[in-house]
Amino acid sequence: MSARLASAARFTFPSITDIMAISTLDAPAPTKDTFPINGTDYIEFYVGNAKQASHYYRAAFGFHLVAYRGPETGCRDRASYLLQQDKIRFVLTTAIRPDLSDDARRIADHVHRHGDGVRDIALWVDDARDAFAKAVERGAVAVQLPTVMSDDHGEIVIASFRIYGETVHSLVERRNYSGLFMPGYRTVTPYFAPPAAGLKYVDHCVGNVELGRMNHWVEFYSHVLGFRNLLTFDDKTISTEYSSLMSKVMANGNDRIKFPINEPASGKRKSQIDEYLDFYQGPGVQHMALATDDIIATVTTLRDRGVEFLSVPTTYYDELQGRIGKIDEPVGDLAKLGILIDRDPDGYLLQIFTKPVEDRPTIFFEIIQRKGAKSFGAGNFKALFEAIEREQGLRGNL
Ligand code: FE2
Repeated sequence: MSARLASAARFTFPSITDIMAISTLDAPAPTKDTFPINGTDYIEFYVGNAKQASHYYRAAFGFHLVAYRGPETGCRDRASYLLQQDKIRFVLTTAIRPDLSDDARRIADHVHRHGDGVRDIALWVDDARDAFAKAVERGAVAVQLPTVMSDDHGEIVIASFRIYGETVHSLVERRNYSGLFMPGYRTVTPYFAPPAAGLKYVDHCVGNVELGRMNHWVEFYSHVLGFRNLLTFDDKTISTEYSSLMSKVMANGNDRIKFPINEPASGKRKSQIDEYLDFYQGPGVQHMALATDDIIATVTTLRDRGVEFLSVPTTYYDELQGRIGKIDEPVGDLAKLGILIDRDPDGYLLQIFTKPVEDRPTIFFEIIQRKGAKSFGAGNFKALFEAIEREQGLRGNL
């Protein structure tokens, strides 16, 4: 191991006073929700090969293929696979004929530039027209005007606006729709259906933005979507000898949606956020956290199916009880799997992070189990940061 990596492997924790000093944990919920959102509707990825990507998420992560749209359903230029696990919906979309339409060309261009990536974090709202009008009035840049799609099951209204990079939020209204997902999709009952892995819902989605742009997007979520700043991590809390980052966690009116925004901070070497920005060629979604009720069982299943996770130094588990207090899970089991533990004033949380799920060091997943904790701990954030930096060093990008 090089001196640099050996040094990076020493794990230090911020003290509880550090954590509280940089937190705005007690920020009161707004008395009136100025942009009501029911939850995450779906996350759409633009990918190079949706057939193969869908197989990965089914075989490794336990998603079920439930619907499909493509040439066989009358859509000539692209194909989309709807995957579901409990409340989580992923749509994997690829261009088949970029020469046939602007939509297909946009998908192909997105993949060319970013690799496989998240295009759309779609939000479920009661009234898409009203929500879209409010967002645009408050400064959001429109991508798709409210559009009605209908079939025998009723109609869906969908509209979208831009966020960081080429990412968008669609607003999806389903109150007059009784179908499975959306007009144009055909239900699929595949013979290949691996058991689910216990993933329940999207806990949070993290965006990486350029140096100096974090506060722009914090202000955007605050002003346009009525979110509040739940938590702030500054560059002193999340740093190593070599690099650092800053992060602010934004939460919506009912706290169901959490969007942390990261930006790189200056250091002796390239920040991992810069590495992401280089390889994604711009801002975008860095990771999505998927919640489980039993992280030991879920992570054991995912590992058995080939999902690769980041590891932490064994020193992380030294005197864990002294730092975190009593927890229900056997520490030996957590250490064996590399699961991180942290605490906030309401309880504790268990987290682990996958390696990037594609060749570019861009998108990865987090598996999270909350035991009372509603927020995020600085200790885990720092452990994640250091684990990524070790991998970044191995890739020659530090
Ligand atoms: Fe996270």
